[in-house]
Order: sequence, then structure tokens, then C-alpha cells
Amino acid sequence: MKRTKIIDVLKRTDFGAEVLVKGWVRTRRGSKSVSFIALNDGSTIKNVQIVADNEKFDEDLLKDITTGACISVTGTLVESQGSGQAVEVQATQIELLGACPADYPMQKKGQSFEYMRKYAHLRLRTNTFGAVFRIRHNMAMAIHRYFHEHGFCYFNTPIITASDAEGAGEMFQVTTLDLARTGKEEKVPYDRDFFGKKASLTVSGQLEGELGATALGAIYTFGPTFRAENSNTPRHLAEFWMIEPEVAFMDQTELMDLEEDFIKYCVQWALDYCMDDLEFLNKMIDKNLIATLQSVVKEDFVRLTYAEGLQILEEAVKKGQKFEFPITGWGMDLSSEHERYLVETHFQRPVIMTNYPSEIKAFYMKKNEDGKTMQGTDVLFPRIGEIIGGSVREENYEKLVGEIEARGMEEKDYGWYLDTRKYGSCPHAGFGLGFERLILFVTGMQNIRDVIPFPRTPKSAEF
Ligand code: 4AD
Ligand code: MG
Repeated sequence: MKRTKIIDVLKRTDFGAEVLVKGWVRTRRGSKSVSFIALNDGSTIKNVQIVADNEKFDEDLLKDITTGACISVTGTLVESQGSGQAVEVQATQIELLGACPADYPMQKKGQSFEYMRKYAHLRLRTNTFGAVFRIRHNMAMAIHRYFHEHGFCYFNTPIITASDAEGAGEMFQVTTLDLARTGKEEKVPYDRDFFGKKASLTVSGQLEGELGATALGAIYTFGPTFRAENSNTPRHLAEFWMIEPEVAFMDQTELMDLEEDFIKYCVQWALDYCMDDLEFLNKMIDKNLIATLQSVVKEDFVRLTYAEGLQILEEAVKKGQKFEFPITGWGMDLSSEHERYLVETHFQRPVIMTNYPSEIKAFYMKKNEDGKTMQGTDVLFPRIGEIIGGSVREENYEKLVGEIEARGMEEKDYGWYLDTRKYGSCPHAGFGLGFERLILFVTGMQNIRDVIPFPRTPKSAEF
């Protein structure tokens, strides 16, 4: 007999039919004569209730049906008498696939997420992480759908690269373990590079993405990126996934329109396809989650310049607002508390901030006529701070070389990149969305480590 997934069993109405379900026991309760087993197989946040007449089953088998155990159940689909569920399965056969000893770390209710992170391999079986990772999957679907529907090409950029796309010097170096040469007995030399060349893990697929956009018109990347910055915050990972669309002939206003339209599409997708999981998270994690998602989709994002943002922050300080990092005026980099003040307290909706001072932003951003600001377009979100970093790119060869030199970077390291400005250069723009920051927002989770299956941070618990 074929197994039916629990998400499908719960929708059936052909009472009396025989069904086969398999999954992990969430709870078992009942009396001497009857057991009620809540079974979950990961296909949905919801459990199916299994009803077993204890006298029909072996006593040792029943003893092994504990929280966390894996079982297979054949039974009859019946209309449920209890509230909260439409169907249940009256068991005729139960097979124990994997017993779960009493030291199962995920057993108790109310364990902290920090505790669960120590068991990366088991936390996935909990309700919260099941919901988070089903939503993560759905967000990936939404992203591919959005770009496909809008004529973008999915473009794969390298993970191993020689160029520092952000020019911030925060790259992990790649080394070679030449076991054939050294023999397994010898101490492994860790000081080798990539077949004689210097190579690192990419911090962003943008530069290669620009090559794609200036040939194919519109591309997007969706892949892992790596940052060797020693940031231990609830918003930073050393390995995170980034989505980077890049579009030829796009100007700053069109870029902001794309950022806003894209994020709203993704959030709407969650509301359309993930409601069971969202309702669970709304109950358990953030009572305003669904309302917040709905309002982000409905309201226009605020668009303001860095200078205007700074002025609002300065006025707030005058009125008594306290910040951990002081507002020091033009040229300062905004920290996430400043960004969140603007978004959560002042405007109470997302903000697209533009025209930052060029010295606090990356070398590739196009400068405005004033010579001191550039056409950046970061999106700031409630609870998150910066969720998107984007800009129009400098397409003029001489200006770009000048900027690289002025920053003390090596022109020779960017030869292939500069060639796009030498041969048939075109105006273009793009942005990067941190996938985990989007998932943080959509799930209401507090810590970025809890929205990626295997978090890598400077202080990662387990590998
Ligand atoms: O602002 P960032 O550094 O911009 C870039 O990498 C550009 N090359 C993107 C582009 O224009 N194509 O990073 C973009 C986004 C941030 O807004 C943030 O959401 C996320 O990536 N991000 C991180 N997410 C998790 N952990 C980190 N350490 C992150 N650093 C950036
Ligand atoms: Mg940024």
C-alpha cells in the first residue's frame, strides 16, 4: 500500500478508506484502553491523530511509541469527533520504524532555540523549525517565479573567485590539501593556495552578475556567499544566501520600483501559500506577524535620501531619543538601531534610502553630479534594518578606474570587470537581498541562526 502524506490525509473525506501514514510521534496520551498519538511527517505543521485500541496491540510496542519515535500506521480514515481536526486514523497495524530513547534532546517543550542549535540535526524535527524551513522553501520558489515571470535569466556566478566584490577585504581564502603529494601520514599543509593562484570564497556574485546583465539584459543570482567579518549579531552569518538581480539600462527609480515590487511579491507569496505555518508562528513567536506582513504588502515604501534620514535622526536626538551609537553627522554609517528608528518609530513602514556619501559605500556605485553622494538604494525593514543593498553601477571606465585607485585597490585585480566598461559599456543597476534576512522578516524569528538549516558564524556551535 502506498503511503499518504499527512498534509493530504487531512484533506480527505472518503471515510472508511484504508490509509498508510508514516511519521514521528509528537505526543502520545490516552487512557488504559485507548491511545491518541499525534503524528507528524514534516509535510505540514499539522498532526494527524492516530487512535489505537490498546488491547489490539502488543504492550511492548505501545511502550515504544514515545515522543520522537518513528512509526508506520495502517488504519481506517474516520471523521473526527474531537474539535480542531476533521479526520483521524483508527489504527489496525502499527510498526515501530525507529524507537526514540528517553534522552532524546528535543523531547521537552519550551526549550530555547539556542539550546536547540546545539542539535542542528534534530532541531529540524520540531514544529517551529519545520514551519521556518517550509517557509524558506516557499520563499525560494517565490523568488525564482518572480524573476522568471519578469524575464530574468537565472545566472550562476562562481563561489571560488579572485575578486573582492565589495572591496572590503572580508574574504575567506581557499587553500589546497595536496594529499597525493604529501601522503596521508604527513602533516597536511594548510598554507597552499588555489593551484598557484590566490583565491577566495565569494562575498557577492554581483561583479560576475554585471557581466551577465550587460549581455543577457536581466539576470539574477541565488547562491551562497561568505563574509569573513567577525560579526556576532542576530543579523549576521559568515555563510549566507544572497539573491542578486542585475539589469541593463535600469536607472535609480526603476531600481527602487524593482526592489519594492519584488519584496512585496515574496511576502504576498508567503501569505498565499504558507498560512498554516504563519498562523503557528503568529501564535508562538510574534503575535503581530501576519498583520505586519499584510501591511508591508499594502503600503508604499518611504523613499528618502541619506541626508533627509540623518536630519530626522538629529531631530530625534534633540527631542531626547537615545542611541547607543551617537549621530555624528554627515559621513557616518547608519547602524541598525538608527535604521530601525526610522522604519519602526518614525515612518512605521519600510524605507528605501538613497544617495549615501560615497566614502561609506562600495567602489562600483555611480556618483551623483554633486560628486559626494552616490546612487545607492538600500531597503530598510522593520525588525531587520538593512534587508537589501543596491545601487546604480558606475559605467564610465575612467571614473571607475579612478575610484579603484583612490581606494588603494589593485586595478589589475579587476581587469575582466573593467573590460565591460571598455567595450560597449551600458548603464545598469542591481541589488542584493540577504535571503536569511527575508526569512527572518517573514517568519518573525529573532535570530538569523534560526532561519538557516546549518548556521555558520564566528562562534558556530556544531559543524
Ligand atoms: O549590502 P551588501 O554587502 O551588498 C552586496 O553584497 C552587493 N554586492 C549587492 C548587490 O548590489 N548585488 O549585502 C547585500 C545584502 C544586505 O542588504 C543583507 O541583507 C545581506 O546581503 N547581508 C547579510 N546577511 C547575513 N549575514 C551577513 N553577514 C550579511 N551581509 C550582508
Ligand atoms: Mg549593504
